Amino acid sequence: MPTIIAVANGKGGVGKTSLAAHLAGLAALSGWRTLAIDLDPQANLARDLGYLERDENDGGEGLFLAVIASQTPAPITDVRKNLDAISGGPGTRKLSNNLAMGAHNLQNTGLDALRDALAPLVAEYDLVVLDLPPGEAYVQQAAFRMADHVIIPTTGDDAANDGLSLVLENYEAARAANPALTVLGIVVTQMQVGAKAMLRETIEDLESIVEGEVRIFEPPVRYAKKAARDCRHQGLLAFEYEEAMARAPKWWEARRSGAKAQSFADNAGGLAGDYQRLTEAILQAATAEAG
Ligand SMILES: Nc1ncnc2c1ncn2[C@@H]1O[C@H](COP(=O)(O)OP(=O)(O)OP(=O)(O)O)[C@@H](O)[C@H]1O
Ligand SMILES: [Mg+2]
Repeated sequence: MPTIIAVANGKGGVGKTSLAAHLAGLAALSGWRTLAIDLDPQANLARDLGYLERDENDGGEGLFLAVIASQTPAPITDVRKNLDAISGGPGTRKLSNNLAMGAHNLQNTGLDALRDALAPLVAEYDLVVLDLPPGEAYVQQAAFRMADHVIIPTTGDDAANDGLSLVLENYEAARAANPALTVLGIVVTQMQVGAKAMLRETIEDLESIVEGEVRIFEPPVRYAKKAARDCRHQGLLAFEYEEAMARAPKWWEARRSGAKAQSFADNAGGLAGDYQRLTEAILQAATAEAG
């Protein structure tokens, strides 16, 4: 059976998609057969993993049909070696509306439909990463019913921590239907390098919110605005961006040939390292919990 990890925070812009993309991409690189599922109508995962323009990108229609017609969606294959994806988009919005409409029904069987329709596909993988939208409570509930673990990224500001608390409430609600679900941990994101006091305060805040019961993963993901922006723009993960940087002509070579030298973020290597260490820690924690 695969390990299914949902990346969630009720607050937008805290780095859910960036983390989901790197977790999926790096796990795949290390040999885990991985499926990344984009449950967000914004469909940002398509940019981060670079499959936005692929013909098989159905904008979330497959996920919608999974819920309303019990059809198992076809993934976009070989997004990377060992990595397939199911795309989000307008279809995911329809899915969300559909789940919300079923909410008057106390059982809300639609919430299980996602898990049931995906089950035959999911069984082919070692790891499944679910990228969740901010809000969309019913999508979150459906995801929590099929997941083994939740990971909550937060920037540590009060609004992001409110979003974290909301996830913890929804997690408790989902456990009635999926008792095996655990919060694997919290990831601190977009943290200034060297801001030791701020990191300490952030961790203290988080420890008081979760009353010390939830692991806070190391390391935090460093703040690296240009690298994050370039990676998304180019559909590259941070380590791939770092490789592209190493291959690019040096500025004097570009200058000699009359080409425009490409500018790169100089902290991409650090960002790539953060995601690599985090992925290692997350996979280790998930493996340990699986016993
Ligand atoms: N390490 C980082 N340092 C600085 N900015 C970052 C970093 N990682 C991501 N960002 C930027 O933060 C923004 C939000 O990132 P991301 O899309 O991963 O968050 P999200 O939680 O998935 O957002 P949403 O809730 O909209 O789905 C993006 O503009 C991205 O470029
Ligand atoms: Mg996102």
